[in-house]
Amino acid sequence: MKTLISTDRAAAVELLRKGEIVALPTETVYGLAANALNPIAVAKIFEAKERPRFDPLIVHLPSRDWLGEIVDLPVQDRQLFLKLADKFWPGPFTMVLQKREIVPEIVTAGLDTVAVRISVHPVLAEIVCELDQPLAAPSANRFGCVSPTTAQHVMDELGGRIRLIIDGGPTEHGIESTVVAVRGGKIDILRRGPITAEQLSEFGKIDIVMPSRKISAPGQLPLHYSPKTPLRLIDNAESFLPQENQRVGLLAWNPVEPEKKFAAVCLLSKRQDLREAAANLFRHLRELDQSALDLIVAERVPSRGLGAAILDRLERASHDQSVVPDMLE
Ligand code: TXA
Ligand code: MG
Repeated sequence: MKTLISTDRAAAVELLRKGEIVALPTETVYGLAANALNPIAVAKIFEAKERPRFDPLIVHLPSRDWLGEIVDLPVQDRQLFLKLADKFWPGPFTMVLQKREIVPEIVTAGLDTVAVRISVHPVLAEIVCELDQPLAAPSANRFGCVSPTTAQHVMDELGGRIRLIIDGGPTEHGIESTVVAVRGGKIDILRRGPITAEQLSEFGKIDIVMPSRKISAPGQLPLHYSPKTPLRLIDNAESFLPQENQRVGLLAWNPVEPEKKFAAVCLLSKRQDLREAAANLFRHLRELDQSALDLIVAERVPSRGLGAAILDRLERASHDQSVVPDMLE
């Protein structure tokens, strides 16, 4: 795929409208954007970045008018939330809020919360307003690499994997936005960024709760959804036999006939398309988790491309039942 660096904002809007991904400048770092309400488009972000697992993404809104569509505004901490929004939006500031149904699970890695930002960058602002849809956009780098602050950095990272990089010049802040959650009358800083703890402390008590500090291995990120039902990875459901009276649900990769041996079946992708599978993964896991099962068995997906991210997520879910998304409760 040929990658173009351009300033053609209309072309960006058109690609985004078609469910494609585009790299865009923000005032912090360049982001790799997709329509946040299109799970297949969002899956392309993970694919291009080669993330080994799904991390929750930041959703960039066209304006505050969109907030009510995407999140349930806090009831208890409403005043504090509004003060922060008035002061720091639009800007390099991200707030984690209770997500509404409309936000696809792949955007939030299955969490009940979503990180929301309104960028002040004129290029991003124009594109997201013209599109009139929220944009999911993590930093536009390959996994494990530093965030890009110029269009050329993005080209070095993702050239050949995406169609278009919109050049807005070097970014102003060069580090990613400050991420906070407001709860119990205080401000938890989940990631430090351009809006400092000092600035935030004018608004209330501050707690620095950076998850990376507590994590000894990447798989232990306490941010991801893990099913409560035990999960086991299997190669193929055909040869699997549930024990007597055991209610087993199947997360299937291979085409399945409705089968009596499983109490519930969710097929990741009829077409065996890894993007579609990635987009469906968290939704299906959640559905199976709510089906009163004794066990979920998940068929291994091929490990190529996005499959590695899906497998990583499934492996984690199968080993690590104790990890709950406690960060934001
Ligand atoms: O400046 C930025 O924030 C850039 C630009 C492109 O907007 N974006 C960015 O996204 O840095 P990313 O995906 O590289 O980082 C997102 C951060 C991660 O630390 C993630 O854990 C956190 O936001 N995050 C996202 N959703 C969350 C949630 N529901 N709860 C807690 N943390 C969340
Ligand atoms: Mg990043």
